[in-house]
Amino acid sequence: MADHAVTTIEPLVKPIHGTITVPGDKSISHRAVLLAAMAEGTSHLEGVLNSDDVRSSIEAVKALGASVDLREMPDGSLAGTVTGWGAKGPSQPDHPINCGNSGTTARLLMGILAPWDVTVEITGDNSLKRRPMRRITAPLMKMGARFEPGGQEHLPITETGSRHLRAITYDAPMASAQLKTAVLLAGVFAQGKTTLNEPAISRNHTELMLPEFGVPTTASNLTASVTGPKTMHACNIAVPGDPSSAAFLICAALMKRQSTLKVEHVSLNPARIGFVRTLERMGAEIRERHEGMEGKEPNGSIEVSYTDVLRGCEIPSQHIASIVDEIPVLALVAAHARGMTVFREVGELRAKETDRLAATIEGLTMLGIDAWEEGNSLYVEGNPSLEVPQGLVFDSHNDHRLAMTWALVGLCSKTPVSVRDFDCISVSYPQFLDDIHKVAS
Ligand code: S3P
Repeated sequence: MADHAVTTIEPLVKPIHGTITVPGDKSISHRAVLLAAMAEGTSHLEGVLNSDDVRSSIEAVKALGASVDLREMPDGSLAGTVTGWGAKGPSQPDHPINCGNSGTTARLLMGILAPWDVTVEITGDNSLKRRPMRRITAPLMKMGARFEPGGQEHLPITETGSRHLRAITYDAPMASAQLKTAVLLAGVFAQGKTTLNEPAISRNHTELMLPEFGVPTTASNLTASVTGPKTMHACNIAVPGDPSSAAFLICAALMKRQSTLKVEHVSLNPARIGFVRTLERMGAEIRERHEGMEGKEPNGSIEVSYTDVLRGCEIPSQHIASIVDEIPVLALVAAHARGMTVFREVGELRAKETDRLAATIEGLTMLGIDAWEEGNSLYVEGNPSLEVPQGLVFDSHNDHRLAMTWALVGLCSKTPVSVRDFDCISVSYPQFLDDIHKVAS
């Protein structure tokens, strides 16, 4: 049996207080690296997240012939240049591309490779090998890419692209920005107009970033389109802070008595800050302030204060995509609220780095909270006088968002907790503990 390292998380000795920035947005960082690799010329990137997941994208594009010179800055971010393969296309790699834990790398890469004359084996770690891939290969096969074994759900999968990709109109079965992006990126080089219709609005970073690289996109409500073939040109991208990382600090401040916190220079893209809307509905003292744009991405600050009385609420299915990565930590906040919180139609959580629906219920149950799933909805019966039992050992299931969620239990209460395989936070927010201690000392 594999050894599981156990990390003890001690309660914060002081309230959270002050102002902080968080590392670059993971979704935007992936896209900046990948789109720059596709483009003709040298792009300048700054504020790129320096984490395992983004390094998977960097290594992937290097193996495919892009030249990457991104260096660590004093603030820990990556900045520098990416020179893309442009019109000549990616080169044939001589080994499989291992995407590690990063679903975004694997799935976006499938769309990126589809229009080129290369055969590439894509693989990943044990978690990524369990995640569904047919949702991506199905539309790309309609466009003319081939996958071996055909129709297979799981990595490793070998993709062979086609220079004669067909544009398609595709009705996505789920709201997934990764699926939307894979189809749109293939569509940049297909003949004609490629359109993706989605059942609910997913994050739109790709639609906003492609025009920066000289590729117009049209996007309205539940539809995004691109017309190919187009040449992509290098550009400059500055990545704002990651609201999904900020959410952990914000929820910590909300649950830790006497706390106030301001997170600065964070993405305020509406498709990403659904958690602010949810917390408002729970009665939290929280507000965002728009301060500017990075390219077409809005950014600014989010301020939050400890709120004594939070109340449960119902989150309808059409809002789930805008909080999809924050549901475990929002469920923990809901566990401290008065009354029931219902997250409608959260079946997609089963397809994340682990089955986040089962793992969230498992952790809340250990806390003595009534939490269950019924018909794809997650129910949490809150308890404002929740006392954390002694000696809890949470399992992160090697999922970064769960590791940070359960760490908040220890940080914000009077009882230390342990978290198994806490180090997996390196895929998105390696300095999470340093940052929270910076504003609580
Ligand atoms: C992401 C989209 C979401 C999200 C993931 C990052 C992206 O996944 O959960 O962390 O960068 O496009 P889905 O598109 O599969 O919902």
